[in-house]
Amino acid sequence: MDKVIMAKDLSLSYSNSETIINKVNFSVNSGSFVFITGASGSGKSTLLKSLFGGLKPKQGSLVVGGVELSNVSSSKLNFLRRHIGIVFQDYKLVKEWSIEKNIMLPLIINGYEKGVTQAQVDKLLKHVRLNHQAGKYPLELSGGEQQRVAMARALAHNPILILADEPTGNLDDYSSQLIWNLLEGANSQLKTTVIVVTHHIPRNMSVDYKHFHIEYGSIHEVN
Ligand SMILES: Nc1ncnc2c1ncn2[C@@H]1O[C@H](COP(=O)(O)OP(=O)(O)OP(=O)(O)O)[C@@H](O)[C@H]1O
Ligand SMILES: [Mg+2]
Repeated sequence: MDKVIMAKDLSLSYSNSETIINKVNFSVNSGSFVFITGASGSGKSTLLKSLFGGLKPKQGSLVVGGVELSNVSSSKLNFLRRHIGIVFQDYKLVKEWSIEKNIMLPLIINGYEKGVTQAQVDKLLKHVRLNHQAGKYPLELSGGEQQRVAMARALAHNPILILADEPTGNLDDYSSQLIWNLLEGANSQLKTTVIVVTHHIPRNMSVDYKHFHIEYGSIHEVN
């Protein structure tokens, strides 16, 4: 089976400070659903950051979508990022843009035709139950609503890989279930590889998943 991610003796740290992730080895098969757990400060967001090339490996090798991230040109990295959907822990919505335009962003970058773009955005707004808010700006929304916009944006261009950092962190049970349904749907119907950082793995998952736990700089699979 194809590997979307391969880490070999991968170490991560910020500038010259302490090692956050220490010589880990793991891989993720194409089309799998992976949960990452770990205590606050254990390095979950740091690991996700490295997976989209936001933090260069300190040591070792990290290959994502066939691209070696320890030594990557900016053009290759931009190309790779077009195929990844990301939900940041702090959302990172463009506050000067309406939520509709925020969700359009990956479609514009990928050169989608206008009609297709609008149809896709309308569909996603419905899926995250925000169709009545399309013209609002991020700061006019609640935290949980912003989180749902971030999820819609991550899914917009049907990426091959979704990286989601605590995507239900601010949501009630109903909205959390919407998000899990969207991620499970992308995984089962579009074969999207999904990597989710969370503190709570839902009990009623409808797809098979793997669970990696980060502790003391190491990663191990929980069975
Ligand atoms: N930009 C940064 N510069 C320096 N150190 C950082 C930076 N971001 C995070 N760290 C440090 O890296 C360590 C891991 O942080 P990280 O954000 O990956 O944790 P986390 O597992 O995502 O935690 P949480 O569950 O609280 O989100 C922490 O000790 C943190 O202080
Ligand atoms: Mg984090």
